[in-house]
Amino acid sequence: MARSQARRVAVLVSGRGTNLQALLDAVAAPDYPARIARVVSNVPGAGALARAEAAGVPVAVIDHRPFGKDRSAFEAALTAELEACGAELVCLAGFMRLLTDGFVARWRDRLINIHPSLLPAFKGLDTHARVLAAGVRFTGCTVHYVRPAMDAGPIIAQAVVPVRPEDTAQTLAARVLVEEHRLLPAVVRWWAEGRLHPEGEVVTVAGAITPAAGLVNPTA
Ligand code: GAR
Repeated sequence: MARSQARRVAVLVSGRGTNLQALLDAVAAPDYPARIARVVSNVPGAGALARAEAAGVPVAVIDHRPFGKDRSAFEAALTAELEACGAELVCLAGFMRLLTDGFVARWRDRLINIHPSLLPAFKGLDTHARVLAAGVRFTGCTVHYVRPAMDAGPIIAQAVVPVRPEDTAQTLAARVLVEEHRLLPAVVRWWAEGRLHPEGEVVTVAGAITPAAGLVNPTA
């Protein structure tokens, strides 16, 4: 696909940026139907910024701290940056600021987030430690459209990861992260191909193939 035809995605980050890297790697393929127009970080010096720069993607830093409690002013600066780069989709990839209802409404059905659990279970921080403490047998990751509450909104796709008896929060996080890196570029591709159809709180993915059978634990 000609780069000029590729849909424009902006990525908001706060940290090391491994999910951003998965997107950068995906968009490098000539037939990928989206490109990253800008990476915006609220954290100066975030590792994600170096990843974007290494890939030749324009970056912006909008530090939330000078805005103090004025979240709307911070988000107005974010929106100005997103509009300037012509973003059609905004992807939260480890962006660790809560967004106001106004910002979420402005980008409704054009704002997606990745979270390292099978939502709506285990919203928030320290996901993997809480998964282990709860004794669930399966966890995973979710990509969803963003609605005002934290880690809430219509689910687009999920990947399931088994929890092993010997897992620590670190080993589990590492296995979930592998799936995050597959899921996010896949969802952005589906969006760019026009296959995502959010209706209210439910998303249909055109042409989706659903596994025929469930997973049962333990299997032996
Ligand atoms: C990822 O695991 C992502 O799912 C999580 O932050 C990590 C960012 O890692 N996001 C959330 O917890 C959102 N509630 P990365 O910077 O290496 O992509």
